[in-house]
Amino acid sequence: MQTSFVREALCSCVFTTRIYNVRIQNLNLDITRAQFANLTKLMEPKPVTTNTEENLDRAKLLNRTNELANEFLDSVAQRPVAHRVDFETLLSKMRGDGLSVDAGDPLRIVEELSALADEAVVATAGPRYFGFVVGGALPVALAADWLTATWDQNGAFFAHSPLAAAAEQVAAAWLIDLFGLDRAASVGFVTGGTMANFTGIAAGRHALLQRLGWDVEKQGLMGAPPITVVTSDESHMSIFAALQMLGLGSERVVRVPADEQGRMRVDELHRTLTRIQTPALVCAQTGNVNTGAFDPIAGIVVCLRHLRVTNYQNRAGSRRCRR
Ligand SMILES: Cc1ncc(COP(=O)(O)O)c(C=O)c1O
Repeated sequence: MQTSFVREALCSCVFTTRIYNVRIQNLNLDITRAQFANLTKLMEPKPVTTNTEENLDRAKLLNRTNELANEFLDSVAQRPVAHRVDFETLLSKMRGDGLSVDAGDPLRIVEELSALADEAVVATAGPRYFGFVVGGALPVALAADWLTATWDQNGAFFAHSPLAAAAEQVAAAWLIDLFGLDRAASVGFVTGGTMANFTGIAAGRHALLQRLGWDVEKQGLMGAPPITVVTSDESHMSIFAALQMLGLGSERVVRVPADEQGRMRVDELHRTLTRIQTPALVCAQTGNVNTGAFDPIAGIVVCLRHLRVTNYQNRAGSRRCRR
């Protein structure tokens, strides 16, 4: 403990000095060593105070918010799942007195926001909501989320928040376990379905073009070897949003017919791929948003391997290969 404390202290010293030097040398700031010492003093920890007016106001606000949150959750099973909302009326209530520099009374803001929930929140957190693929949060997840918002960390990199970095690594290892993935798999956390598909397709685009001798990250897409993206007729709309952002074009894709559960048909995939004249990137889907069905991934892989082998056997010197 002692050694690690000393090391921490040394690190922060070195870090602070470095910031000081960088500021002075690179930014040419007009700051003296004495002023810098004053700044450092300001940054020293202060004794804990609990009864200041500011602290009491904050505690009152957070306690009331806690009450409102519990009132909402206590009644969520009885609440209408959805409301008929006149959107213009809702907008004008939310606008209130309009934007002001002074935020007004925080307690009133929270009360007003909570009252709007009675009119316009969809009860996805409750047990009677069965729409789309949306689920509610467990109380412990909600509580951890409150703490996360309280700590207000920037998870960009380790120095910003060692705790966030550790949480990311631990959750990543758990997900690898849960999905039975290769232990060396790299995991990234994204904002939702669209960015998850974006990331997956970006990885596929990178790998396919790399095999064709093209570094898409460095060289961009202009002049890259042509590739074709293959999706199913039932691919989620976020796939097409991702393709649009990745420069692969949402309308250049070739769609493979799906079965009655929305699963990509492997026989149709095979037929489609034999007609395509470029290397292909195939997007399979796990969890159709309407039926929950998974594309037959194992069958798709067998089909791709078979085509690759056949194509290598047939190409007879041609540099074209289908993957
Ligand atoms: C219609 C629609 N749009 C977008 C998304 C994805 O949203 P996000 O990228 O915010 O997770 C979904 C998710 O299923 C959806 O059904």
